[in-house]
Amino acid sequence: MMAETKESQLLEESLFIWKTGDVYTNPTEVKMSQLILPCHANHRGELSTGQLLKWMDTTACLSAERHANCPCVTVSVDDIDFEHTLSIGQVVNIKAKVNRAFNTSLEVGIAITCEDPSSGMQWKVCNAFATFVAKGKGVGKVQLKPMVPGTSEEQMEHSIAAERRRMRLRHLETIKALVSSSTIQNEPNSEEYQSAVPAGKTRVESIELVLPPHANHQGNTFGGQIMAWMESVAAISASRFCKGHPVLKTIDMFHFRGPSNVGDRISLKAIVNNAFKTSFEVGVCAEAYHQEVWDRKTHINSAFLTFVMLGKDGELSTLPCIKPEPGDGERRYREASARKKIRLDRKFELIQKVDEDDVIYHVIGPTHSKGSNFQDFVLLASRRVPCADGDPYLIALRSVSLPAAPPTEDLVRSEVLCAGFTLWEEEDAQTRITYYIQATPGILPYITCNITGLSADLCKIIEACHKFLEQNKDMTNVAL
Ligand code: COA
Ligand code: ADP
Repeated sequence: MMAETKESQLLEESLFIWKTGDVYTNPTEVKMSQLILPCHANHRGELSTGQLLKWMDTTACLSAERHANCPCVTVSVDDIDFEHTLSIGQVVNIKAKVNRAFNTSLEVGIAITCEDPSSGMQWKVCNAFATFVAKGKGVGKVQLKPMVPGTSEEQMEHSIAAERRRMRLRHLETIKALVSSSTIQNEPNSEEYQSAVPAGKTRVESIELVLPPHANHQGNTFGGQIMAWMESVAAISASRFCKGHPVLKTIDMFHFRGPSNVGDRISLKAIVNNAFKTSFEVGVCAEAYHQEVWDRKTHINSAFLTFVMLGKDGELSTLPCIKPEPGDGERRYREASARKKIRLDRKFELIQKVDEDDVIYHVIGPTHSKGSNFQDFVLLASRRVPCADGDPYLIALRSVSLPAAPPTEDLVRSEVLCAGFTLWEEEDAQTRITYYIQATPGILPYITCNITGLSADLCKIIEACHKFLEQNKDMTNVAL
């Protein structure tokens, strides 16, 4: 628990960059503390995720409006990993502040910690980033004034926010490209198919009427309310699949494509898209039927939630297979596999932009070592553009230590000694890419996992190198 407290403080400091007292307080900082009561909890006495999403959205929206000086609406909430559940009697603390204003949108950083008032202990629950668009009354989107960072840490967060925005705007494109290029390996065999749960049994359809308490003073439905309804429908679908009450682990990015208003009917549909060994994905779609034009609907949001089922001993339960419905169900089954692979293989977070060409990433990936499922790296990635014609483009990687990203108990901290790519332009439409790594045998499984998503041929070569190094363990540093 002590380790968690320290970690939460460090993460909080890196996200919430202000100096207290008479020196500097960020003017957009908003704090919310809520005592978790039975009305906020599920049957297990744990805070409902939907309620947490509503509180996060409210806090972040107030922070956005402090900067914008006009009403703001939620456009997106980045992927969220829930590290802990919260229980009745505990206090949830939410802090939000604007990291950067772009043209009409701004990014708000949100940090959630949990506090046990009886022991005084605090620990991190999750961090999130939400984007809001400023929408003045009847005037559409509003051009925002720039956000001026007040400290060097805020300056850093300000730079990184631009990178996150770039990734957000390319999110759909990236997912589509990766889905079409990835090799899916978890097709069930015929025996597993026999005992599979038909996906149709997990289908949920529900409807909600948007009332004034669900909306802001301009009548726009709160993003947090829509997310809460989506989470609740997804949880029903998930419990139908496991015949129990699973735990929500991650939510992929929420993107609010269109607005809804008081008086709209929100149609919510959810189904289990795919089940893996111990986790499964539920997809949920929200559409708005607008007042007086009931035959016209707008697609508001689609989200993908990953659940796990815990046994009595708290261990992850092994799940049955799912039998997708023909057509869209089969497509979603494959897409869910690809999303899972992307989540695990490409799970990285930009934690510091040193300058234009040097950035530090925190990368989490699966491990083949016994005792833990995941390992992590803190990597400095440097790029060098060619100085002259004929020179290669260089990308170098190496592990670094960063106080803001200390090792944690649940991940095996691993190291890349020195690695990189050279990219040589050979002909107009041909580039030669060479990959170098100074590695110990322990690093090879990571590379193999990483390469698998790119090319099956490359993967075979790396697997052969891996085997060679395993057989020659005495050679500690080998350049491939
Ligand atoms: N993530 C983050 N920001 C995004 C985004 C995404 N997925 N998609 C668009 N944006 C940003 C754009 O970068 C742009 O910001 P900028 O002006 O600072 O560059 C801004 O949103 C507007 O984007 P644009 O492409 O001009 O969109 P639009 O005018 O067609 O519509 C909204 C944008 C937000 C007005 C529209 O999608 C909407 O009304 N969504 C629903 C919002 C809402 O009501 N939410 C509450 C719950 S329903
Ligand atoms: P996609 O089909 O590309 O996943 P959608 O926005 O159509 O995107 O739907 C998002 C998710 O919502 C789907 O993956 C599915 O899990 C769920 N969903 C969509 N339509 C239905 C439906 N008619 N019944 C149950 N669940 C649905």
